[in-house]
Amino acid sequence: MFETSIDADGIAVIKWNIPDRPVNVMNETTMAGFRDEVEKAIADDAVKGVVIASAKDDFIAGADIDGFLEDLSVEALLPQFLMFDKIGRAMETCGKPFVAAINGHALGGGYETALCCHYRIAADNPKARIGLPEIGLGVLPGGGGTQRIPRMLGLQAGLKMLLDGRKHTVAQAAKMGLVDEVVSPEDLLDVAKRWALDHPDATQPWDRKGFRIPGGDVQSPTGMQLFPAANAMGRERSFGNYPAVQAILSCVYEGCQRHIDVGLRVESKYLVNMIRHPVTKAMVRTGFFEMAKARKLKGRPEGIPKAKIGKLGILGAGMMGAGIASVSAGRGIDCVLMDVDRAAAEAGKARAAAPLEKRVKQGRMGEAHMAALLDRIAPTDHYAALDGSDLVIEAVFEDRAIKAEVTKAAEARLASDAVFASNTSTLPITGLARTSARPANFIGIHFFSPVEKMPLVEIIRGAGTGDAAVALALDYVQAIGKTPIVVNDGRGFFTSRVFATYVMEGVALLKEGVAPALIENAGRIAGFPVGPLEVVDNTSLGLSLAIRRQWKKDLGDAYVGHPADDVFELFVETLDRPGRKAGRGFYDWPADGPKRLWPELGRHFPRAAGQPDVEDVKQRLLHIQSVEALRCREEGVVTERADADVGSILGWGFPMYTGGVLSWVGQVGAAAFEAQCHALADRHGPRFAPPAEVEALAA
Ligand code: NAI
Repeated sequence: MFETSIDADGIAVIKWNIPDRPVNVMNETTMAGFRDEVEKAIADDAVKGVVIASAKDDFIAGADIDGFLEDLSVEALLPQFLMFDKIGRAMETCGKPFVAAINGHALGGGYETALCCHYRIAADNPKARIGLPEIGLGVLPGGGGTQRIPRMLGLQAGLKMLLDGRKHTVAQAAKMGLVDEVVSPEDLLDVAKRWALDHPDATQPWDRKGFRIPGGDVQSPTGMQLFPAANAMGRERSFGNYPAVQAILSCVYEGCQRHIDVGLRVESKYLVNMIRHPVTKAMVRTGFFEMAKARKLKGRPEGIPKAKIGKLGILGAGMMGAGIASVSAGRGIDCVLMDVDRAAAEAGKARAAAPLEKRVKQGRMGEAHMAALLDRIAPTDHYAALDGSDLVIEAVFEDRAIKAEVTKAAEARLASDAVFASNTSTLPITGLARTSARPANFIGIHFFSPVEKMPLVEIIRGAGTGDAAVALALDYVQAIGKTPIVVNDGRGFFTSRVFATYVMEGVALLKEGVAPALIENAGRIAGFPVGPLEVVDNTSLGLSLAIRRQWKKDLGDAYVGHPADDVFELFVETLDRPGRKAGRGFYDWPADGPKRLWPELGRHFPRAAGQPDVEDVKQRLLHIQSVEALRCREEGVVTERADADVGSILGWGFPMYTGGVLSWVGQVGAAAFEAQCHALADRHGPRFAPPAEVEALAA
């Protein structure tokens, strides 16, 4: 587990090398091992100084978060954290110099181990990331990070680092003072040993007499100004949904007023509470484990050899087609980008180049590299150019007749095992597959806009789609570095169907006479990136109207109307307020100023006497989506809770603290959720009525 050696000068090197794991992680076993090594080095009179290093490519990747999902008691957790504090303090105060030789990633507990050293030297490794990303998982840096960072950087810079959770490059880390020196990888150990030899009396600043936090203590005028502002900012960012934000602020405020030994104990107690918190468990489960499983293609049909997509055909070089070409070429796939004429195809290629050009401008990609990637995109207006494609994705207009025509023409050029995919956002795949000569090889691959930025891809299995097509689609999504979920066919599939309920509920609230600002704020306070009315404006009211009309036409008598339906007609057809593109929708979007809610909304939807509480509006906006997701589960549109959870967070920004749209039911408690939904159904209509067996469906 550890390789310890002592050189002729008496400098011990303790190298982390955790067996059977790709990276060094910290858990009960490895921490006990580390403690033994440190105690041995401290006790050995022959040892004059100690270098902490790693035998792997990275330094220490952080805590082993497998344990976070277990239901551990305070009594089981607290002693572990106090033990780590004790090792750290022993390193700092034993009278021997400790140096961290950081060769690669030093994250979370890994970087906190380095913080216990008197000096931090990093190898100039472009891949290495340094930082305290704990907040992203709903926890706080509990290995001394909330105490040592503010004492080292000052309260303001320290709080910023703890609350934004960024991972920094070595150069950035050096600039911020997170590492003291950067050297070439070959020199790392020698320089570290040299430093230890040259600094036999090393101490930490906070153990020196008269230590003051740089820039001012908590009780200084600066500190007194900082904390109210930081509290307000934390609140503004998290709306109280992420308890770790408050916990970090409390650790710094309470801990940094006292001696570091007391501060560390304060931190450990907050950490225990955070690890046991349901929000943390939900974030770790979905945000870490389920997303990792999805990226590893957990649901891929078995026994089908891995496909390599050498050549990809893209039909329609519009916004989506260009985005698909850009991300695919960016991952080394040869793309044919086809449109109705050569000029349209060329224009699509130019659009595909834009995000790459931006990366070149930012210095994140070389010109030659960009040119090589763009060489992989061949614009064309001939179907013959598709010959030899392993996969063709159509992204032509959302029109069944045009889609039928391109399907036929493309399939005529394809080998028997090649797959044809539609990027349709609304048309059921099974229906589109009827125009295919080979429905087993027909599938939905639904991207989100903008393609370059959005991490999720929804793969839709039509009634006749075969396993081989699903496997190939998954292999493709993995090859372009996105996260897939697999769902079964249905109107709006999974993501559009459930997200639509958020938007429709917002519009229904407006129609009831709820103040528009209350609706929009409730959406944001619930944790959504934008309020429901703004979402409609962004995507266009005209599009929402067209989709609902199409559904009505397709479904006939089976169409279930929504109270918000006529609002779309009013805005698009009577008021001519079709959305953001036109500069007017639920908001005014002036070209030269910030948007604002249309002042006339009140005239069309008179304010109801007795406005609801913001918590009630929040509940409606969240619960309606979870009810729809439960229905998707009941109907078999989603078959795994994880697909619903991951899809909701990555697809439309369902808030992370919930763990996802189905996990939310568990967080509320299945019985409580069911009762709340029945109450909502009584007041607002059957759309809130949950399917039977809520608990089983959410599990
Ligand atoms: P767009 O209008 O930007 O691009 C469509 C392109 O298809 C145009 O360049 C057009 O010239 C081309 N085209 C039309 N008929 C063709 C034919 N017979 N052969 C070859 N090319 C033809 O549309 P956009 O937004 O890129 O959407 C394309 C598809 O992706 C639609 O099915 C849409 O529903 C779907 N989608 C759109 C999303 C969005 O946010 N815009 C998100 C997810 C899916």
